[in-house]
Amino acid sequence: MNDILPIAKTARIGSLEAGRIAYGCWRFAGSTEPEARAKIDAALSIGSKLIDTAAIYGFGAEGFGAAESILGSLISMSPELRDQIVLVTKAGIHPPAPYDSRADIVIRSCEASLIRLDTDQIDIFLIHRPDLTTSFDEVARALMELRAAGKIREAGVSNFTVTQTRALQSKLNFPLIATQPEFSPLCTDPLEDGTTDIAQELGLALMAWSPLGGGRLVNGVREDPSSVEGRVVAVLKDIALRNGAGIEHVALAWVLAHPATGFALIGTQTPDRILASAAAYDIQMTRRDWYAVLEASKGKRMP
Ligand SMILES: NC(=O)c1ccc[n+]([C@@H]2O[C@H](COP(=O)([O-])OP(=O)(O)OC[C@H]3O[C@@H](n4cnc5c(N)ncnc54)[C@H](OP(=O)(O)O)[C@@H]3O)[C@@H](O)[C@H]2O)c1
Repeated sequence: MNDILPIAKTARIGSLEAGRIAYGCWRFAGSTEPEARAKIDAALSIGSKLIDTAAIYGFGAEGFGAAESILGSLISMSPELRDQIVLVTKAGIHPPAPYDSRADIVIRSCEASLIRLDTDQIDIFLIHRPDLTTSFDEVARALMELRAAGKIREAGVSNFTVTQTRALQSKLNFPLIATQPEFSPLCTDPLEDGTTDIAQELGLALMAWSPLGGGRLVNGVREDPSSVEGRVVAVLKDIALRNGAGIEHVALAWVLAHPATGFALIGTQTPDRILASAAAYDIQMTRRDWYAVLEASKGKRMP
């Protein structure tokens, strides 16, 4: 029997569908318009329609929205772009609080995002991090109001625990559609903290952030076999060699091969690396390969 883990190229998110390698705009601020357009074009050319941003991305002297504004300027210049992407943005991180999900704050953040992104509706609107000082009733009220007004199409959570996700869901009159945790060969917490389980239970599209460990897997990799990076990279290299691919593509394939994963959000600012990432879809990863990466990450064999 074939022991290769299947890696589908697209996934559904609500009524929408997009390539499972998705593009994240965290590092987007500072790009010129032509540079930003080249990155989005590279993403679209490999089917990466899902574009993830947040009000806080690029936060600086001018406040919120630097990354959203760049994407918005591309949409303003080429309005047809809006229909070509599945637009994800987030609210709720407010330095120095650091989090604020009071209803008025979330609603105003969404409205400001709509203006910056030059659009009438956010496809998927996420609460960026749980605000422990605001009740789930109040967060739900904000999301229901935004959805009833047509300002957001669907909603989800990011960096929420399983019980926080359930608590928010219990207060909503519509189903959450996504969860966005950190997940990579260097961050395997979602496999054990219940995040991948609740995603399957509730039918949430899991969007894995920093699937290359924010670059730790590829930048200045430590060869030290006693470090988690060293152990993981050694296993990734072995699989990469057999596949004629880069370790970054194997890492992406590892994330995508988990049955709960909907999307892997890559964040490179290099169009050629965006294009090359499609190699992840072709990685032939056996079940043994997948567990070998997990064992290397945990530093111990499976029981
Ligand atoms: N919800 C949340 O709390 C949260 C938090 C963090 C991120 N995110 C989302 O996840 C997205 C991706 O995060 P990320 O940027 O950390 O993802 P990532 O893809 O794990 O890391 C990107 C980093 O790796 C480097 N890199 C990629 N390929 C490389 C290669 N072949 N060789 C050397 N360096 C390479 C990139 O540098 P180059 O640009 O030089 O290629 C960049 O600095 C973000 O944009 C955001 O949308 C969400």
